Amino acid sequence: MTAARTSEKIQLADRAIDVWPDDVEVLDWVEPNVKIAVFNDTEAYHPRLVERTLALETDPVLGKAFPGYAGSAKVYHLDRWNYPEAELIHRRAQELFKRVLNTPNAAVDLSWANIYREGDYCLPHSHVRATAGIVYFLELGLEPGADSASGGAGQGRFMFADPRFKVCCREEEHAMTTPGGPMARNGMMIMFPGKIVHMVDVFKHPGPRITLSWNLNEHFVPGSPFPEPAADNPQPS
Ligand SMILES: [Fe+2]
Repeated sequence: MTAARTSEKIQLADRAIDVWPDDVEVLDWVEPNVKIAVFNDTEAYHPRLVERTLALETDPVLGKAFPGYAGSAKVYHLDRWNYPEAELIHRRAQELFKRVLNTPNAAVDLSWANIYREGDYCLPHSHVRATAGIVYFLELGLEPGADSASGGAGQGRFMFADPRFKVCCREEEHAMTTPGGPMARNGMMIMFPGKIVHMVDVFKHPGPRITLSWNLNEHFVPGSPFPEPAADNPQPS
């Protein structure tokens, strides 16, 4: 794994922290083109980032509510939140893209937060206009002890559901029978090919469950990342 170290820092309210701390490695998942990074300094920025996300949920410009199938509320454009904690995680997503693809460029086509509450879920989909998708687990939204007792059902698990992934085809090659994904934890960031089909299982807790998402390419893609409005056309999720 290429690791072109960056010494850049972001100034938060009470401290400056590294865009990419030295102790954070890019790890392989069972599918080789899915990468994982886990950040251990989350106490420095999670509380304020959660607060900011929820405050912007009803923002008339950045916020938008969707029906349950598309993951409920979204807050777009993290780079326009005017908030150092949002800038930090935005820069971390770009840095992960650069490290995985060994490129100096990371053009964000779209970024957004997803706020799930009880009953929300997201149907299987791919991301258009994206070499890679990145998801950051900011707040799983589970009560203490609500972990493996249910086998993961009802926890809003992020899962791949794609016949191109062997891990999803455990009975027969190219037959997608088994959705699956990394076991999420707060502070985990994953990167995957944008065309790989993925989904979020129904969330059966009060929550909120909050994830942050990015669509990235090496170079900017002209045009709007938003699809033409249509009643049956879910927004990026
Ligand atoms: Fe998605």
